[in-house]
Amino acid sequence: MLTSARFRSVLGHFPSGIVAITGRDAAGAPAGMAVSSFTSVSLDPPLVAFLPGKASSTFPVLARSGTFCVNVLAAGQEDICRALAVSGVDKFAGLPWRPGPHGDPVLEGVVAWIGCTIEAVHDAGDHHIVVGRVDDLAAGTAAEPLLFFRSRYHHLAA
Ligand SMILES: Cc1cc2nc3c(=O)[nH]c(=O)nc-3n(C[C@H](O)[C@H](O)[C@H](O)COP(=O)(O)O)c2cc1C
Repeated sequence: MLTSARFRSVLGHFPSGIVAITGRDAAGAPAGMAVSSFTSVSLDPPLVAFLPGKASSTFPVLARSGTFCVNVLAAGQEDICRALAVSGVDKFAGLPWRPGPHGDPVLEGVVAWIGCTIEAVHDAGDHHIVVGRVDDLAAGTAAEPLLFFRSRYHHLAA
């Protein structure tokens, strides 16, 4: 039977990276959420996408500002991922970041960042599909990525 538990469990067998989607609220305070549903979409024009749940309190903040920054988390940034996955707390307390494109936070030590303007928001069941147009991006050289598979964090094998 197709229960939500079975859906979660089977789909959890698809490995992914983890990104922090960041932005700023109307007062300029940083906002963000941990997301595994991130993908590149189009080269020309340059588009990426992520899927926030409709219960997310952070996505409406990002939607109002109209921009966001994708931060590809590095191995060892599990704590940042956990902090950004909790709702209704100051997620950025003690978290080093600098303003990137549009002033959206680029977190210290990430593998890559991608600054975007929201191009479209599509309805998709209990999630949105958010398409972002890439305005600027850069990759670091040293950092290994943080991976997520079967509800656990993983690192690349040496
Ligand atoms: C590894 C991992 C991956 C996640 N992927 C997603 C995702 O793709 N979409 C989503 O809406 N939430 C995802 N979450 C949950 C959100 O980070 C979190 O529940 C949500 O942002 C709650 O905070 P908010 O109310 O401030 O948005 C993920 C959490 C973790 C730990």
